[in-house]
Amino acid sequence: MAKPLRVFVAGATGATGHVFLHEAARESPPIELLLHVRPASAAKSPLANDPRARVFDLGDANALSKALADCDAVVSFVGTMRNRFSTGDTYATSDVGSTRDLVAGAVAAKVPRFLLLSSAGAGGMGAYLKMKGECERIVRESPLAGSFFRPSAFETPAGIAGGNHGARKAIPGMGALFGVIKAVPGLAGFADDYRPIPLDVVARAFLSVLKEPVEVARGKVLEGRDLWKLGARAA
Ligand SMILES: NC(=O)c1ccc[n+]([C@@H]2O[C@H](COP(=O)([O-])OP(=O)(O)OC[C@H]3O[C@@H](n4cnc5c(N)ncnc54)[C@H](OP(=O)(O)O)[C@@H]3O)[C@@H](O)[C@H]2O)c1
Repeated sequence: MAKPLRVFVAGATGATGHVFLHEAARESPPIELLLHVRPASAAKSPLANDPRARVFDLGDANALSKALADCDAVVSFVGTMRNRFSTGDTYATSDVGSTRDLVAGAVAAKVPRFLLLSSAGAGGMGAYLKMKGECERIVRESPLAGSFFRPSAFETPAGIAGGNHGARKAIPGMGALFGVIKAVPGLAGFADDYRPIPLDVVARAFLSVLKEPVEVARGKVLEGRDLWKLGARAA
């Protein structure tokens, strides 16, 4: 029997991480997950008591290398927001710093591939999009087979826990607005790139790419329109 995919999940304690774990639990054959939890967050995160949890700071190269041993992929859902900068989590430390640590750890541990949660418009204007572009660059310029996921605004599906920072809520009116835009001839792809996207769709798109051969996934950039297709629930 083939060995199960072994995947290190960074950002497991966040909104995307929680939905990903929920969707990954349905996979057959099963996927083996290792869940990263920061020591500073362990007390408030029920995941810290999960046998799959690995509690350490990503800057601890020894602990990271131990956790990444024999992994087939690193998935990163790590990131922060401006309103958390005062807690010490900044774009430089959380997003860019964690990407650097994870890439260096993956290269050292010979993990072949890296799936990065980026954002619609990555590399564009403004500090957030520039930072997302920088995270993508770090992965792209490494020897790893990188895949880049660029969703628009998230929505946490009903009934799934939001994680340490709460659930992502639908923005009122956005769904209807993009429904109108999508109906305009020639704008369907644009609407799918920028309309809010449920996190279970995003999670299934990650799972779908994880099952692709490494060389097929290398360098793939998945915009919203690709995520909607890949993440559609099988009938
Ligand atoms: N929200 C949106 O609508 C949206 C849309 C497109 C893209 N994105 C991007 O998607 C990513 C994830 O979003 P989300 O809503 O799932 O975020 P979230 O709920 O805020 O979760 C962020 C995760 O990153 C972890 N983290 C933050 N700083 C870290 C560090 N220095 N080291 C290790 N882990 C760290 C957090 O750990 P703790 O639990 O320990 O804090 C948590 O697990 C973000 O990068 C965001 O920019 C978001």
